[in-house]
Amino acid sequence: WPSFVDDIDAILALKRERNAIILAHNYQTPEIYHCVADIVGDSLALARKAVTVEAQVIVVAGVHFMAETAKLLNPNKTVLIPDLGAGCSLADSITAQDVRLMRQSYPGVPIVTYVNTSAAVKAESDICCTSGNAKAVVESLGAPRVIMLPDEYLAKNVAAETKVGIIAWKGRCEVHERFTPADIRELRAAYPGVIVLAHPECPPDVVTEADFSGSTAAMSDYVEREKPPRVVLMTECSMSDNVAVAHPEVEFVRPCNLCPHMKRITLANIRVALEENRHEVRIDPGIAGRARRSVERMLSI
Ligand code: 13P
Ligand code: SF4
Repeated sequence: WPSFVDDIDAILALKRERNAIILAHNYQTPEIYHCVADIVGDSLALARKAVTVEAQVIVVAGVHFMAETAKLLNPNKTVLIPDLGAGCSLADSITAQDVRLMRQSYPGVPIVTYVNTSAAVKAESDICCTSGNAKAVVESLGAPRVIMLPDEYLAKNVAAETKVGIIAWKGRCEVHERFTPADIRELRAAYPGVIVLAHPECPPDVVTEADFSGSTAAMSDYVEREKPPRVVLMTECSMSDNVAVAHPEVEFVRPCNLCPHMKRITLANIRVALEENRHEVRIDPGIAGRARRSVERMLSI
């Protein structure tokens, strides 16, 4: 705790000195999420709110694709990510060349790309989506079929909810792919009445067994709205920690999986990021314009 307090004090002072703000994803640890972040949310909220930022420096407490999205939407601002190793198994599952090959294989079929990808992959896509708007984005295109990259499970979960034909890729989230329907059955037996919320990056048979599926913000909203006496969030561990703070009346059952990438961000490296201006996110101008267009097209929906 003493070092937390020192780091928190230093970060608050550095934010003022540098005219900086911190965007934090829902999977950040509570001391980041509750003590130093200015804007928190799911990937969609962070992208939307990034557009409205007035500060000159944006520190992204999240993973690299989130920092790239913030930079795409704020090309004239300094965007920092405290640890360059904060990646994502979905972003690593596909390259720009893979997207070009998909386009050649399915001529005329629009490409919807999850924001959990590199800017280079976004640049080859027609439009982006997040877990919070994937179905709406797919249906907005008015096409009988779309290619949905790179999360196989998100694509299959959306396919179950729409008449649009979905052609999927084979990427997986290393955190959510580990949940199983047997986990849910065991939880229901051990915690009678527990309400199960699953992120749509979970396998389809997990989503089917759950009571509700939605983005991290949708899960948080569900708890706020329904106030279930007992709930389990089938997602990253910090999510329950962060939501539980506002809901002492709700019992959070805590089996969860850690995202090693999200956990690379700490108070200590946020402080260093602000002190030493690192690591600055830069996007090749040759791809930034096209990647921005895919993100902005999503935000216009
Ligand atoms: P959300 O957009 O639902 O916050 O999800 C982001 C993510 O990385 C989930 O694993
Ligand atoms: Fe990527 Fe999964 Fe971590 Fe989200 S939880 S950043 S999708 S690896």
